[in-house]
Order: sequence, then C-alpha cells, then structure tokens
Amino acid sequence: MKPEVVLEAENLTRHYQVNRGMFKDPAVVKALDGVSFRLEKGRTLAVVGESGCGKSTLARLVTLIEQPTSGVLKIDRTDVSRIEEKQRRKLRTQVQIIFQDPYGSLNPRQKIGLALEEPLLVNTGKTKTERQKAARNMLAMVGLRPEHYDRYPHMFSGGQRQRIAVARALMLEPKILVLDEPVSALDVSIQAQVLNLIAEIQDRLKLAYLFISHDLSVVHHIADEVMVMYLGIPVESASRDTIFEKPKHPYTQALLSATPIADPFKEKKRIVLHGELPSPMDPPPGCTFHPRCPQAIDICRHEIPEIRKVGNSIVSCHVATP
Ligand SMILES: Nc1ncnc2c1ncn2[C@@H]1O[C@H](COP(=O)(O)OP(=O)(O)O)[C@@H](O)[C@H]1O
Ligand SMILES: [Mg+2]
Repeated sequence: MKPEVVLEAENLTRHYQVNRGMFKDPAVVKALDGVSFRLEKGRTLAVVGESGCGKSTLARLVTLIEQPTSGVLKIDRTDVSRIEEKQRRKLRTQVQIIFQDPYGSLNPRQKIGLALEEPLLVNTGKTKTERQKAARNMLAMVGLRPEHYDRYPHMFSGGQRQRIAVARALMLEPKILVLDEPVSALDVSIQAQVLNLIAEIQDRLKLAYLFISHDLSVVHHIADEVMVMYLGIPVESASRDTIFEKPKHPYTQALLSATPIADPFKEKKRIVLHGELPSPMDPPPGCTFHPRCPQAIDICRHEIPEIRKVGNSIVSCHVATP
C-alpha cells in the first residue's frame, strides 16, 4: 500500500523581529530557518534538540497557531497558505497538540467530563447525550475510570492529567498529534506508562505523531523517524535505528554519547561539547555548529553546509562520512 503523507514541510521558516532597545536596530531571531520533512499516517517523527533550537516554534506552525515566514506547510495534502478561513478552521481540528504541562491547558473549575466535551460543543453539532457518551468512551480509552468524569483537574496526578490531555486532544478525531515534550514533566516511572498509552493509541487509531523531545531515551522508545535540530535547522534526519546505531552528524553523535540508552555493553565515550548554544539572533557564520564541533575543519567556519545524503541519513555537515 502506498504510504499516506499527512504532514509535509518544505523549507519552513519562522523569523521573529525583536526590539533591542532605543539605540539599536531591531534584530531578527531565526527560530526556524528551513525545515523540511514528511510524516506518514500511523508513523512517529521525533524532533530532537537542545532547548531553544526551534522545536516549539515548529509545533506552533504545524498546529496553525502561527503562520510561517516562508516555506510550504501541507496538512492532509492541503497547502495551508492557500486556504480560506473556513477550511483553515476545519484543518485545525485535524492537528491537535499536547503540551508538557497539561495543568496549564485545563480549566481548574471545569469537571473533566465537560472539558472533554467542550471541543465537540464548539466544533460539532453533536447533542448533549452524544457528547457525554463520547467523553465517557474516551475516558475508558485513555485508561481512566467512569467516575473521573465528575472530578476536577486538581484531583488527578500528573500522569492522569496527561491522560486527560491525550483524551481531550482526541475528541475531534484528529489525524495528527503534535506532542511537545509530553512526558518531560513526569516522574520517570510514570513516563513509561504515558508513553505506552500514546503508542497504543497510535496503533489503534493510526495517528501520525510529531513528537518533540530533548530526551533521546524517550525518543528511542517512541520514534520511527528522527530529525535532530540545531539552531533552527535539521542537522540530521534518518530512521530511528540509523540515528541510534550510526549517527553521522557530530552533533547527533555528541547528544547520543550523553544518553544512557539501548545497549549497555556498547563502549561509549562521552563527547563533551564546549561552549554554550549560540544565540539564534547572532548565529556563527558557516556551519552554525562549528564553534562547538569537535570535528570542525576550516571550511566549516565560513561555508554553510549543503544538505546531503550520507549513508542512510540526510545531513547538513561538511565532514560527515558514511
Ligand atoms: N515570539 C517570539 N519572539 C522572539 N523570539 C522567539 C519567539 N518564540 C521563540 N523565540 C526564540 O526562538 C528560538 C526557538 O524557540 P523555541 O521554538 O521555543 O525552542 P525550543 O522549543 O526548541 O526550546 C529561541 O531562541 C526563542 O527565544
Ligand atoms: Mg519548547
């Protein structure tokens, strides 16, 4: 069967103008600076990178909360820059987002059952009885109990609240879920439970996931494909196995060397990156990773690397070898 691409980005950028005070010109922050990927139905693309590399910005573009500065975004094969407001609203229901902190998106004075019904009330013509039934079914689907319908957000644990966030995101039967650090705020013991639920739901509903995380052990658990980002651009994209077994980009190699995962017998030498993450307001010339790169050579300091295929990865790097 032909894979069904449900989400596609082509050279997507998002720049922000920021004021730097009275005597300076405004600066441009290139939060995203050319991101391309495809995501198929039923698959998970993990987006990985340090804080500030543009992950949440990408999430805001994909969920139509913000518009890109340039580039093409296609949801369900529809170019979102070319649609009317009405169609936009409809597409918006197709892409739902789950945040790190579900507490922030739940109204403390609203019972969980009603919180689940709200998207149906706003976006569909379903009757009260139909909405209630759908909410109760959804509670069961995410592993909560019928009596939870009448409870308030503060009466739940962190893990349960993230189950509620998943339930709420699913009420409008989306095709795509964007998960922005969905388990980062949870205890490690709870993380696995919530990740298992997320994986189970994908199997059942054939959803596509854009899964954002800074934590490679979480990514290893859940991803099919991985895109590693650095200062607003993808530096390496490949299947999960390629990323974890044969990372090509020095940045991916460094991230992996700092993550205790997978094969405990594999000899791993930690690669320490020197220096801070540069500001995207004033990125280094050439390859933006060169000041921290243990493998940088002269060309890296002044020439931006082309995107190219190295082994089974797509990388942006002058020195990567198969
Ligand atoms: N509205 C905004 N105005 C100015 N700069 C922003 C805005 N949103 C994000 N940024 C900047 O863009 C970069 C990427 O941010 P973000 O997408 O939140 O990264 P991540 O989620 O990977 O931590 C950061 O340097 C951040 O400060
Ligand atoms: Mg973020």
